[in-house]
Amino acid sequence: MNIDFSDKVVLVTGASAGIGESTALLFAALGAKLSLVGRNEGKLRAVAAACHKLRGLQPLPIVADLGTDEGVQKTAKETLDHFGRLDVLVNNAAIGALTSLQPLDMKTFDEVFRIDVRGVYQLTGLLVPALIESKGNIVNISSIVATMVNVGSLPYSMAKAALDHFTRIVALELAPKGVRVNAVSPGITVSDFIKRITDQTEEQYREWLGQYSKNIPMGEPCLGDDIAKMVVHIASEHSRLVTGTIVEVDGGLRFTPIAGSR
Ligand SMILES: NC(=O)c1ccc[n+]([C@@H]2O[C@H](COP(=O)([O-])OP(=O)(O)OC[C@H]3O[C@@H](n4cnc5c(N)ncnc54)[C@H](OP(=O)(O)O)[C@@H]3O)[C@@H](O)[C@H]2O)c1
Repeated sequence: MNIDFSDKVVLVTGASAGIGESTALLFAALGAKLSLVGRNEGKLRAVAAACHKLRGLQPLPIVADLGTDEGVQKTAKETLDHFGRLDVLVNNAAIGALTSLQPLDMKTFDEVFRIDVRGVYQLTGLLVPALIESKGNIVNISSIVATMVNVGSLPYSMAKAALDHFTRIVALELAPKGVRVNAVSPGITVSDFIKRITDQTEEQYREWLGQYSKNIPMGEPCLGDDIAKMVVHIASEHSRLVTGTIVEVDGGLRFTPIAGSR
C-alpha cells in the first residue's frame, strides 16, 4: 500500500527548518495540502516554495510565535479559514536550552515551557474539533531526553516528558472520537537545534557530531528525513490502529546510559 495524502490537510509547526522542514517536504511529495508555521518568514517562505515545486500545491505559510496566545490562535484560525478542515497536526516546533537546577533560571524555564508545552496544549485544543470532524490524527515530536536521565538540559527534558504524557492521555481522551495521537521521539538529529543551544560554529558542530556518533549504537545521527519518514508512516492509514505510542528514532542511543561511556 502506497502512502498518499492527496486531499488531506496537514499542519506542521516549526516547518521553517530542520525536522519540520523535512516533514513538510515529505508530506508535500505525498500530495498533502500544507499549513506551515514558524517565526522566520524568509525561511518559512523558502520551505513553502520548495514544497510547491514538488507537486504544484501551494502551502499556506503562517508566520506566528507559538509561545503566545495570539500566535497559536492565528495559526488555528488561518489554517481552518484557508482549508476548511484539518487531517493531521504535527506539533514539532520547540526550543531547547542548556539549563539545570543550579543556577536557577526561571526565564529559560518559562520560555521552554511556553513554547514546548503550553503552545502544544493550546494549539491542539483549538484544533481538536476539526480533527474529530475529519477523524484525523496528531503526531507530537518529542525527544529521547524525555526518558533518558541526563544532567544538563532540565526544563527541556521535563517539557518533553510532559509532551510524552500529554500524548498518552490525549490519545485515550480522543480514541472514542476516532482521533489518533502519537509521538515520534528523535535521538540526535542533524539540524541547527544543538548547534544553537551549545553556541557552536558549523565546524565545531560537525566535529562534535563525529565524536558523539561513537555513543550511538548504530554509529550515526539521524537526518531530518529519518524522522519525517516515521511521522508520515504514523500519520498514514498504515498506522490506523496505532495510538498513544511513542516511537523512538534514535539509532539505539536511548540505551546508552552515560554519554561517552563506550
Ligand atoms: N535536533 C535534534 O537533535 C533533536 C533531538 C530530539 C528532538 N528534537 C525535537 O525535534 C523538533 C524539531 O527540532 P529541530 O532539530 O528541527 O530544531 P530546529 O532546526 O531548531 O527547528 C525548530 C523549528 O521550530 C520553530 N520554532 C521554534 N520556536 C518557535 C515558536 N515560538 N513559534 C513557532 N515556531 C517555532 C523554528 O522556527 P523559527 O525559528 O522560524 O521560529 C524551527 O522551524 C523539536 O521538537 C525538538 O525538540 C530535536
